[in-house]
Amino acid sequence: MEYKMENDIREILFTEEEIRQIVQDMGAKISRDYEGKNLLMVSVLKGSVVFMADLMRAVTVPCRIDFMSVSSYGSGVKTSGVVKIIKDLDIPLSGYDVLIVEDILDSGMTLSYLLEILKSRGPRSIRLCTLFDKPDRRKADVTADYTGAVVPDEFVVGYGLDYDEKYRNLPYLGILKPEVYGGK
Ligand code: IMP
Ligand code: MG
Repeated sequence: MEYKMENDIREILFTEEEIRQIVQDMGAKISRDYEGKNLLMVSVLKGSVVFMADLMRAVTVPCRIDFMSVSSYGSGVKTSGVVKIIKDLDIPLSGYDVLIVEDILDSGMTLSYLLEILKSRGPRSIRLCTLFDKPDRRKADVTADYTGAVVPDEFVVGYGLDYDEKYRNLPYLGILKPEVYGGK
């Protein structure tokens, strides 16, 4: 039988259309808040690229974008707590109102680390925007300034989020069947 990614999904949490509406609403709010500011949207690779691409087009005020890559998960499903910079930003942050754009806030280890580094570079302001939040799993003291939707403590994929670098191209957010990653 032909392999279909859909067969590895237990349940769809947010459809393509639901995500579009969430992202539109976030973009509208960010546009109001950053009126007259010097917005720099920083995407944390790779999970947030899909969100970033849609969110930046839902933002109607002028903005710049930059990308950063840090590692926290490797190919597993549990955070290691070890975070290292794989690719740094090109733009010095001084004078910018930085908005970190994340796909999902889980333990918060990645973002708390990133926030510390980026704050030390002297931006005018810095805020966090995450499309999805798994508050049940928080270990670090991080809260997002903009949250799209709360998700349960399950491993989710699609709309940029991966398992072992796969499923990022699914247009919706779904719960991965635990047997796919050898879970319960
Ligand atoms: P944290 O440091 O535990 O908050 O991990 C954040 C990063 O882990 C996210 O940017 C994702 O890349 C990844 N991650 C956390 N939970 C999931 C999930 O359910 N599916 C896919 N990736 C996840
Ligand atoms: Mg990932």
